[in-house]
Amino acid sequence: MQTDIRPESMARINTQAQAQAFIDEQIQAIRAQVGDGKVLLALSGGVDSSVVAALLVKAIGKQLVCVHVNHGLLRKGEPEEVIRVFRGEMDANLIYVDAVDRFLDKLAGVDDPETKRKIIGKEFIEVFAEEARKLEGIKFLAQGTIYPDILESKDGIKAHHNVGGLPEDLEFELVEPVKLLYKDEVRVVGDALGLPHGMVYRQPFPGPGLGVRCTGAITRDRLEALRESDAILREEFAKAGLEGKVWQYFTVVPDFKSTGIREGKRSFDWPCIIRAINTVDVVEVTPEYLPAELIKTLVDRITSEVPGISRVLVDYTPKPPATVEWE
Ligand code: XMP
Repeated sequence: MQTDIRPESMARINTQAQAQAFIDEQIQAIRAQVGDGKVLLALSGGVDSSVVAALLVKAIGKQLVCVHVNHGLLRKGEPEEVIRVFRGEMDANLIYVDAVDRFLDKLAGVDDPETKRKIIGKEFIEVFAEEARKLEGIKFLAQGTIYPDILESKDGIKAHHNVGGLPEDLEFELVEPVKLLYKDEVRVVGDALGLPHGMVYRQPFPGPGLGVRCTGAITRDRLEALRESDAILREEFAKAGLEGKVWQYFTVVPDFKSTGIREGKRSFDWPCIIRAINTVDVVEVTPEYLPAELIKTLVDRITSEVPGISRVLVDYTPKPPATVEWE
């Protein structure tokens, strides 16, 4: 088992050769730790869990069982990409759990942001635990813990276990191959493992997903409007050459409506709010001021292509006083 302290002598992983050396070393370490045992992993499709999955597939192949829970709050195309990359390209053992109805039913009518987060977190653990119980003979749980998680948990800022709080009957030995790496190093390793560029360099996405951007009580139609507007935003940012340059960008669809005109008749629809920000430490955040042409394209596309949206607003508020997410 690795220590939780990064040795001062450990060189920063910057190059593909350094990443390859790390991968080779970890493959040996993982094989030594798990032998012929089976390893379970909650694979969200985020950078950290994807890199851990790819590393474990290289080390132990089908002894790894990945569980991808679709809670209905993922971005457009995400579950499909996880399935394509891991089941298709990597030939990994992947269990896909469609828990969309289950999550959305539990969230129906719940408008308090913290209660929504708690429900999403608790439900996720329950769904994952149910899948874990169906599988027999699993001794190990792999996690995409990275070094900042360890530092933050040491400082008491947050608990670092990604699937923390599993029920007591599910006791696993942890496998955490990237726990001494910083985020930029995890990305270099992901590249060296052959993961798609978009998966390795994707922008941060909160655990509760689109749930914190579909403000108030989530409804399926408004959630769909959010998912579609977010997909258009990402597409247009990529076309404008802003992908990978702006730290985080997304849309929010709040739970209020405004009057508009559609096909000569009065309409009463939601606004869509665009948020694009840059930051170094996430403690302080500055807005990315968008080119007028891009804003025009976004207004045109979102109001014409997304049912239920009749207005587009841009949120240029820094943090503080605003947080990045609306909830
Ligand atoms: P805030 O809104 O707190 O967001 O200024 C700062 C950064 O953290 C992300 N975020 C989360 N990430 N689980 C996560 O994994 C969460 O519950 C969560 N809430 C916010 C947010 O997207 C931003 O990058």
